[in-house]
Amino acid sequence: ARILVLNGPNLNLLGTREPEIYGHQTLEDVEALCRATGAQAGYEVEFLQSNHEGVLIDAIHAARGQVTGIVINPGAFTHTSVAIADAISGVALPVIEVHISNVHTREAFRHHSYISPVAAAIIVGAGTNGYVLGMQQLIHLAGK
Ligand code: DQA
Repeated sequence: ARILVLNGPNLNLLGTREPEIYGHQTLEDVEALCRATGAQAGYEVEFLQSNHEGVLIDAIHAARGQVTGIVINPGAFTHTSVAIADAISGVALPVIEVHISNVHTREAFRHHSYISPVAAAIIVGAGTNGYVLGMQQLIHLAGK
C-alpha cells in the first residue's frame, strides 16, 4: 500500500525559511520522517514537492486508485486554490491537510482554507510532526 505526501510552494525552503515560524527541519528531514512512519505500518511513501499548482493537481489526479490517501501541505495555495480543492473532490481519496504553523494565530488571510471543506482531517500547528499525525490518521482510516 502507498501514501502520497504532497508539499506545495516554498516548502522546498523548509529549515532555512522563517525558522522561527517553520522550525529547523528540512524537507529532506520531513521526507525521512514520513518514510519511517509509513514503513512501520507497511506503507510505501511517494513524496513530492512543487512550486507549481498544476504539478500538484496532476499528482493528485495520478494518485487516483493508486494510493490509500494523501497528506498535503498546500502552502500558500491553501488560501487561493479552488483548483486543488476540485482535484481533491474529483479523485475521491481521503486527504489530510497539514500546516506546520498554527495558521489561526497568523495573518487573517491564512485563516481561510479552500482545502479544509474537502479534507478528511486538518492538522495545524503541530510542526513537522503534523505529517506523522496525518499519515497515522490515513492508516487509521484504512483499517476501519
Ligand atoms: C503553511 C501555512 C501557509 O499559510 C503558508 O503559506 C505556507 C506554509 C504551513 O505549513 O504552516 O507556505 O502551509
